[in-house]
Amino acid sequence: MNETTETATRKRALSCIQPSGALTLGNYLGALKNWVQMQDDFDCIYSVADLHTITVRQEPAKFRAQIYSTCALLLAIGLDPARSILFVQSDVPAHAQLSWVLGCYTQFGEMSRMTQFKDKSARHAENVNVGLFSYPVLMAADILLYQADFVPVGADQKQHLEIARDIAVRFNGLYGDVFTVPEPYIPTTGASVKSLQDPTKKMSKSDENPNAWIALLDTPEDIMRKCKRAVTDSQARVCIGEGKDGVNNLIGIYSALTGRTPAQIEAEFDGQGYGVFKQRVGEAIVEALRPIRERYADYIADKAELEAIYRAGAERAAKIAGRTLGKAMRKIGFAF
Ligand code: TYM
Repeated sequence: MNETTETATRKRALSCIQPSGALTLGNYLGALKNWVQMQDDFDCIYSVADLHTITVRQEPAKFRAQIYSTCALLLAIGLDPARSILFVQSDVPAHAQLSWVLGCYTQFGEMSRMTQFKDKSARHAENVNVGLFSYPVLMAADILLYQADFVPVGADQKQHLEIARDIAVRFNGLYGDVFTVPEPYIPTTGASVKSLQDPTKKMSKSDENPNAWIALLDTPEDIMRKCKRAVTDSQARVCIGEGKDGVNNLIGIYSALTGRTPAQIEAEFDGQGYGVFKQRVGEAIVEALRPIRERYADYIADKAELEAIYRAGAERAAKIAGRTLGKAMRKIGFAF
């Protein structure tokens, strides 16, 4: 992508992921798979959102390692630095700057209604910090700085996207067309992958039970074991249905990986028990993740190359972000 001779026909996609631990199958199916595909049709900007991650206390050495490993994984899934901008959020100071500005155009009441804030403050009751509260404002800054048309995310980020849109519309209403109002880009299958142990909850790396989630770097043996142990029900019928959260989730995963519809999947497993079904789901996951694991090993082995890639990305990102930040600040009246 060339940000100076940008073509009017290509829309811009932007998204970010937190380096808060191992990435999961939920991250992959809900967001990352689209990130890769969108490179064909959009100008893409992707970032490792490290500033967001310190809303929960991090151990320094581990945090640094997670930033590297997240960058390596993004390359391993197929993000191409020749086509897309890849960078680490804290390398571009405009994110923190615009976040402060936008915070002054966001209401306390709006932030209080965010479900992720309510969930996370309940889970980390000992550290309900102001960053956790204003997190969606930083996220709005991430998006609006790049004039993104589309934001590929899983369903859990929809509420944050709506706030980003509200902030953009409000700011534009006061000062004219400063920000592009972004649209969420949510996949039809895999938008909300559930825990394998409690399928009423989303699959999350912060789940204490490691059998509840599949990491992109899990070994094939781990993946097969976790699938075999996945919670289902006593009906022994592979079909979508009410009260069948576990089976619905596995059908969703299989559908996202194979492109088959739930009806085709029901037909494929007609008359067969859950044992065969879980085996097949496990194999589909193993095959999808195998090349990612292999490529990851190469990327993580060369830290210097990795760093060169994301620092170059930050330079390109900073140019775009700087233009938007300058425009917004001048509109407000800063002598910028
Ligand atoms: P994060 O790091 O929690 O997750 C990254 C992406 O993965 C999606 N996702 C899921 N999708 C389906 N099923 C699941 N179980 C699942 N778990 C995670 C998320 O929806 C997300 O798209 N606040 C964001 C990061 C962020 C951001 C941004 C995103 C910061 N700034 C600007 C978009 C634009 C977050 O914590 O995602």
